Amino acid sequence: MENLKDKVAYITGGSKGIGLGVARALLNAGMRVAISGRHSEALTHAKETLGSDQLLTLVSNVDRFKDEQQAVDKILGQWGQLDVVLANAGVGHFAPVDEMSVEHWTQMMNTNLNGVFHTLKASVAALKESKGYYMTLASLAGTNFFPTGAGYNATKFGVVGFTQAAMLDLRKYDIKVSTIMPGSVATHFNNNEPSQKDAWKIQPEDIGELVVDLLKMHPRTLPSKVEVRPSRPDKK
Ligand SMILES: NC(=O)c1ccc[n+]([C@@H]2O[C@H](COP(=O)([O-])OP(=O)(O)OC[C@H]3O[C@@H](n4cnc5c(N)ncnc54)[C@H](OP(=O)(O)O)[C@@H]3O)[C@@H](O)[C@H]2O)c1
Repeated sequence: MENLKDKVAYITGGSKGIGLGVARALLNAGMRVAISGRHSEALTHAKETLGSDQLLTLVSNVDRFKDEQQAVDKILGQWGQLDVVLANAGVGHFAPVDEMSVEHWTQMMNTNLNGVFHTLKASVAALKESKGYYMTLASLAGTNFFPTGAGYNATKFGVVGFTQAAMLDLRKYDIKVSTIMPGSVATHFNNNEPSQKDAWKIQPEDIGELVVDLLKMHPRTLPSKVEVRPSRPDKK
């Protein structure tokens, strides 16, 4: 995208962590940004933190296709266009596979995997119109498996496969599609409270910078799968 000014972005799970960091970067780049999440208090807090009149907050649970349809309708009602979608909302529950609860498994499937499809399905007509950009927030857990990760790995391997296939389907409409696969990021993920102990991790604003760089990439070039890791991992 040559000029980001006034372009419209929708970030699912934008009230905290990576989504909030990306929202800040896109607002700083002059874009209009909608963020969603399940909890209105977290969205209100995010709105106060970001302090921008170019921000729209939407209560939406990506587990439910209807919520995502309504969220996209509100964005189109407010701004009349949608140029960038980041399917970022996600949860992580970690346990040996024999101990994993059905509830945790189902929640990860519904949010991390079904959710990215719901968001795409709800926004793809608008993205065809704008020749826009659809991104997913996968993880290095979408290529590296580990003990206690069976459920989370299954969703993130799924997100990577989904996004790559979607890229092949949608590039003929001039829609760019990428998946971002970070290692550890300093966020609230898995009940973490970000603090000084997380200084070695990727910071949410770093992913924000990366998203802006991807958006500004020349139209002829598409980094379809982007792995990002801390350059100096924690010494254990
Ligand atoms: N942190 C890491 O180390 C890391 C590394 C690689 C990939 N990731 C991925 O990055 C994405 C963002 O995670 P994060 O680290 O930024 O976590 P976070 O700080 O916990 O933020 C998660 C965001 O997603 C929202 N959310 C959760 N479930 C949702 C649902 N069903 N519908 C709509 N919104 C929902 C949360 O708001 P509500 O709770 O109010 O809904 C919150 O805004 C996830 O997909 C995660 O798997 C994280």
